[in-house]
Amino acid sequence: MSNLVIEVKGLTKYFGKRCVVDNLALHVERGQIYGFLGPNGSGKTTTIRMLCGLLTPDAGQGQCLGYNILTQSDQIKRQVGYMTQKFTLYEDLTIHENLDFVARIYGMSRRRVRVSQSLEQLGLTERANQLAGSLSGGWKQRLALAACLLHEPQLLLLDEPTAGVDPKARRDFWEQIHQLSAQGITTLVSTHYMDEAERCHRLAYLAYGNLLVNGTVQEVIDHSGLTVWTVMGDNLWKLQAQLKSLPGLEQVVPFGNLLHLIGQDTDLLQASIAPLMTNSPYEWQLSKPTLEDVFISLMGHAQDHSL
Ligand SMILES: Nc1ncnc2c1ncn2[C@@H]1O[C@H](COP(=O)(O)OP(=O)(O)O)[C@@H](O)[C@H]1O
Ligand SMILES: [Mg+2]
Repeated sequence: MSNLVIEVKGLTKYFGKRCVVDNLALHVERGQIYGFLGPNGSGKTTTIRMLCGLLTPDAGQGQCLGYNILTQSDQIKRQVGYMTQKFTLYEDLTIHENLDFVARIYGMSRRRVRVSQSLEQLGLTERANQLAGSLSGGWKQRLALAACLLHEPQLLLLDEPTAGVDPKARRDFWEQIHQLSAQGITTLVSTHYMDEAERCHRLAYLAYGNLLVNGTVQEVIDHSGLTVWTVMGDNLWKLQAQLKSLPGLEQVVPFGNLLHLIGQDTDLLQASIAPLMTNSPYEWQLSKPTLEDVFISLMGHAQDHSL
């Protein structure tokens, strides 16, 4: 069997006249944690739904878990754990009842055992009789993950699973995704958090339905070709005023007492800032772009061709 758990090309989806996923190709290897990034409305959810057979593509082909995405969506659905963007379990059922309900839907044979194992694995046993609706965001998300793991899927499709969840709970969640990865379970996960993006084996960045770049974090950063100058000092707002509309300067991003000056054309940027660097009260340093710098730059250059 191929080592590729997801292998699709030409994936395209229109809603009315709007092309929201445009000729997308995606390769994800077994055990990989693959991050899906991009601004709201860029087509992440639509792509995820086409991969698990909930939405029929208008064009494109390929396989997911060895099954044809166009003709074998029933088989795919059975082996995929899909966590939707919004919490979709029942708030007025207890944790135990929710898991038991999901297990019944999948017609699982060892239902009782699997549900209690699942409660234990997630550290939810003591809270089993608590109503799902009374849980904090972090616990709700753990429960949702437990529910989508019950039937022991080989592929997890997680759509912004940690939106609004606190940093500790997000870290625990990622710990679990990495443990699953070590067991050979593949994860495709969409997120807006840069720290989470950095924890993926590979990333893809989508804007307006187009996959603009993909690779490891390092590859994505290297491929950007961005030059970044870091400026450090007090009263940076004074400098910020002087930076308005300098040729070659595409972004100015303040971080506390740092400024990031970002541009695509190294020489042009250098020439523009050179006069400001002479006798400057600030400390100037050539540094590397962060993933966030790269994504914001990509988004700035992307064109909305869909209208
Ligand atoms: N069922 C639908 N009908 C019409 N338009 C939709 C539907 N679902 C999504 N869209 C549109 O498709 C685009 C991509 O949406 P989506 O895949 O949800 O993006 P993302 O998950 O990246 O935020 C958006 O412009 C959205 O409004
Ligand atoms: Mg979405």
